[in-house]
Amino acid sequence: MDRIPFLAKLKKYGIVNNIPNITLENACFLRGIIRKKKVKNMLEIGTANGYSTIHFACELEEWWGHITTIDFSEVAHKAALENFKQAKTEKTIQAYHGDARDIIPTLDQKYDFIFIDGLKKRSKVFLELAWDKLEEWGIIVIDDVIKFRHKMEDLYIYVDEQKLTYNILPIDEDDGIMMIIK
Ligand SMILES: C[S@@+](CC[C@H](N)C(=O)[O-])C[C@H]1O[C@@H](n2cnc3c(N)ncnc32)[C@H](O)[C@@H]1O
Repeated sequence: MDRIPFLAKLKKYGIVNNIPNITLENACFLRGIIRKKKVKNMLEIGTANGYSTIHFACELEEWWGHITTIDFSEVAHKAALENFKQAKTEKTIQAYHGDARDIIPTLDQKYDFIFIDGLKKRSKVFLELAWDKLEEWGIIVIDDVIKFRHKMEDLYIYVDEQKLTYNILPIDEDDGIMMIIK
């Protein structure tokens, strides 16, 4: 199956229906990291309709990597499952329906790449919970940290307090990401 037209259609659907999917530029940038690092086990907080997850899965499946993704919206979760099926990516993706704050502590695996793209004002809590699940030298990326900085002041305070080394990368006109390496 050619995922490029499928993903383009999904992105258009997201724009029309106000689903805040990552931009294509951001997807390509993150796919580049996944490819370069040969990520084996990825965690995503905030599936929405699965647009970003399918992008990541397209890389991961090349070397039998895997992604776990979480969303607490039932509508989003169901839409994502349908999209994973249509994109033939189900083998690479495990999708949980529930609040990431409840689910992350129950995960008994370690991840080498964690993408945080849930409710912006909860980004700090997601980071705190995800940190334990990140392998040594693993990468955490937090989305939308420039335009929504006002919703994430506690995150900026937390990374400074914890003396975490981070980079803010402006990816495209839409926004940028925070990248932290453990
Ligand atoms: C920005 S969208 C994710 C977009 C998706 N990553 C993409 O680019 O295609 C954020 C999603 O996070 C979910 N979300 C927000 N807070 C959450 C939480 N505490 N637990 C699980 N999901 C959450 C929302 O339901 C929403 O679907």
